[in-house]
Amino acid sequence: MYKPVLVTGASSGIGEAAAVALARKGFRVYAGARRLDRLKALEGLGQGGLSGIEIDVADEGSIDRACYRIEAEAGPIYGVVNNAGISVMGPIEEVSTNEWRRQFETNVFGIVAVCQRVLPRMREAKLGRIVNIGSVSGRIAAPFQGAYASSKHAVEGLTDALRREVEPFGIKVSLIRPGFVNTPFGEQEQEGLDEFLGDGHPYAPWVARFKAWHAKGHPKGASPMDVAETVVAAMTADRPHSRYVVPAAYLPALMMRNLLPSAIVDRLFARINGVAGVRRPS
Ligand SMILES: NC(=O)c1ccc[n+]([C@@H]2O[C@H](COP(=O)([O-])OP(=O)(O)OC[C@H]3O[C@@H](n4cnc5c(N)ncnc54)[C@H](OP(=O)(O)O)[C@@H]3O)[C@@H](O)[C@H]2O)c1
Repeated sequence: MYKPVLVTGASSGIGEAAAVALARKGFRVYAGARRLDRLKALEGLGQGGLSGIEIDVADEGSIDRACYRIEAEAGPIYGVVNNAGISVMGPIEEVSTNEWRRQFETNVFGIVAVCQRVLPRMREAKLGRIVNIGSVSGRIAAPFQGAYASSKHAVEGLTDALRREVEPFGIKVSLIRPGFVNTPFGEQEQEGLDEFLGDGHPYAPWVARFKAWHAKGHPKGASPMDVAETVVAAMTADRPHSRYVVPAAYLPALMMRNLLPSAIVDRLFARINGVAGVRRPS
């Protein structure tokens, strides 16, 4: 195959696994992220078809430089995996608007900027693949994950619109919705919640319960390679799905979210994540 593919956020977790899996499948993979030392270590795992590349998806200049290098070395970019992501945690009331902006700069505008950079040449070539990494949080918004869940809801909308816009040009677009996956992402989310615990924080008792529930999620989650295999499927299938859920065990929860009234979903979810057990202030 040897088609050039850019994977963003490949210095860790899902992106790292996807870069290796795609290289082993025969793609010419450019594994992009800001931490170059981690990318160097990854290169050896890609059977010669994997190069690290510096990219900050929140910086259009950096995106342009990375894409320019790929095009110069390997030709027009065939595929992009928009995987780079961060999670800003905390109650909506307490998370600063600067943090909200940081969340959207990476998870949403980063995807927009990468797509804007690669689409003209994909349209010219009349072929290409874009795989966006969303989340189950793009359909079910947990408390204290409002910024992250909103960004992933935005990724759902932009992926649907993009798929419909570029289909006439032969470009295929898929969304992957992982549930809990065992990567360093979970620890960062746990640390993010700490800021909202303790005296003076009005949501602290609920945040503490949520944090305890959340702590169990990632270690028991899917392996990054499970998501990577789905990325390979989306990149190689003749007719890739519009969306994939990994692991499939999340499908019933997503269906219930669509079918049940919000009041019931709210109560069920509060019971599951322990938030229901905290007394309301008198
Ligand atoms: N883990 C889960 O349970 C889970 C569940 C659902 C969805 N997801 C989604 O899956 C994606 C990957 O998550 P993960 O679990 O693999 O997390 P991770 O291990 O923390 O990896 C995140 C990656 O994103 C990169 N990144 C962050 N900001 C970036 C920026 N501005 N420019 C370029 N790269 C950037 C990081 O690299 P550098 O810091 O080196 O730049 C890192 O390689 C995210 O979009 C996340 O929302 C994860």
